[in-house]
Amino acid sequence: MHNHNHLQPPPTTISSAATTTSICRSITFSTPFILLITTLFSLLLILSLSFSPTTPPPHPHPSLFPNYLNSPSTPNDQTTLPPTPPSIAYLISGSTKDSSRILRLLFSIYHPRNQYLIHLDKKTSKSELNNLALTVQSVPVFKAAQNVNVIGKADFRYKIGSCSLAAKLHGASILLKLSKSWDWFINLSAADYPLVTQDDLLHILSYLPKDLNFVNHSSYIGWRESKKLKLIVVDPGLYLAEESEVYYATQKRVLPDAYRLFTGSSSAILTRKFIEYCILGSENLPRTLLMYLSNSPSSESVYFPTILCNSQKFNRTTINHNMLYASLNSRSQARRLNSSDFNDLLMSGAAFASPFKVDDPVLDQIDHELLHHNRDEPVPGGWCLGDTETNKCSVWGDAEILRPGPGAKRLEKHFLELFSNESYLSDQCQYEKSSSSR
Ligand SMILES: *[C@@H]1O[C@H](CO)[C@@H](O)[C@H](O)[C@H]1NC(C)=O
Ligand SMILES: *[C@@H]1O[C@H](CO)[C@@H](O)[C@H](O)[C@H]1NC(C)=O
Ligand SMILES: *[C@@H]1O[C@H](CO)[C@@H](O)[C@H](O)[C@H]1NC(C)=O
Ligand SMILES: *[C@@H]1O[C@H](CO)[C@@H](O)[C@H](O)[C@H]1NC(C)=O
Repeated sequence: MHNHNHLQPPPTTISSAATTTSICRSITFSTPFILLITTLFSLLLILSLSFSPTTPPPHPHPSLFPNYLNSPSTPNDQTTLPPTPPSIAYLISGSTKDSSRILRLLFSIYHPRNQYLIHLDKKTSKSELNNLALTVQSVPVFKAAQNVNVIGKADFRYKIGSCSLAAKLHGASILLKLSKSWDWFINLSAADYPLVTQDDLLHILSYLPKDLNFVNHSSYIGWRESKKLKLIVVDPGLYLAEESEVYYATQKRVLPDAYRLFTGSSSAILTRKFIEYCILGSENLPRTLLMYLSNSPSSESVYFPTILCNSQKFNRTTINHNMLYASLNSRSQARRLNSSDFNDLLMSGAAFASPFKVDDPVLDQIDHELLHHNRDEPVPGGWCLGDTETNKCSVWGDAEILRPGPGAKRLEKHFLELFSNESYLSDQCQYEKSSSSR
């Protein structure tokens, strides 16, 4: 019942496939989104940041990637065509008993152009990990696009301590190796969920400069955060194979003055260039900071904002917004979202929201009203060519064709609010002198 166009076309048909693609593209394009394009084009001019060309995904299935072989020779020569959609690398992390949530999340954010890496920590049993890997293997489109991977050997992860940062960097470095073509890195936890389809998100991102990093940040280090940063902890995951308690030293330390500390949220949308800078770069700050934070309980919320804002190369690319909706209580902890929050989620214009309880009814509402899919099927996008409701995504078309919906409108509105008013510039890596309490 799956994949009617499964047969590999001979290489000679590739150019004709490309022509149909262009036609399809202009058709998709003459829909109500012309307005969006013009507004976003002007936005692009306002920002006037550099563009880097995308290369197509490395693992082509001819139905999903008909342009793969000849795409380097076909840069956008017709200006009426939309830019090539970008691609996102997702790192999805979870722990024991999270695999059904992770699968649900995976289907809700699946798109053949993206890369997905799933990491379950060491608390997860081997059999749960194997079952998850087998389930992923059994989904035909995951196999054909070869873009879903599960890390076989788990890293330790504690709620505090630096091992979760190490796991994140490890995941990001695997993603760099897995594919040369993704543009943005997003890490999600099993408690996160999208509010827009991937077609919506990729469509909007294709009109943004590819060097923008979205991360909440502030140089204001309040007493709570400052207390945490001065603590010295030793994360046993760094040197013990067995799980044991995080160890607190009795001594405190001062805050660093060789660089300015920024704190933010642990979630972010980061560019490939920035991830490469952190992992492969020749400058020392990413490593120095990693060593400083290896003894700190709040490494995740500090690492990325601090590097971004202390680097001349990246400080102007940083947008003080992470596109993730969270509702913080008075102790600045995110509370669980439920059906009562649905309208706020919708109005927020965010791309993701967090945290949700396992199988909370609001997730069904999001699936039904915003993503239009069943929890165990991918969200239909431009690549789904099936003509009935039930087999939509079992017939594959070109993954470059996006079919954005109302979610793209919400994102567009949100981005326009963010950029039209140049106040975003005054929010960029601002250093508040008064905050440097040591
Ligand atoms: C970025 O760094 C440069 C050089 O250090 C500095 O002049 C500039 O003000 C910084 N910009 C922001 C937004 O922090
Ligand atoms: C991130 O920043 C945006 C806007 O500045 C804010 O609305 C949002 O609540 C922040 N999110 C978190 C998790 O701090
Ligand atoms: C959602 O959570 C809020 C606060 O935690 C609570 O007041 C409200 O009753 C909950 N709504 C539903 C539908 O469970
Ligand atoms: C820009 O944003 C600031 C703060 O968000 C607001 O006070 C101001 O009125 C806005 N200006 C315009 C022109 O929208």
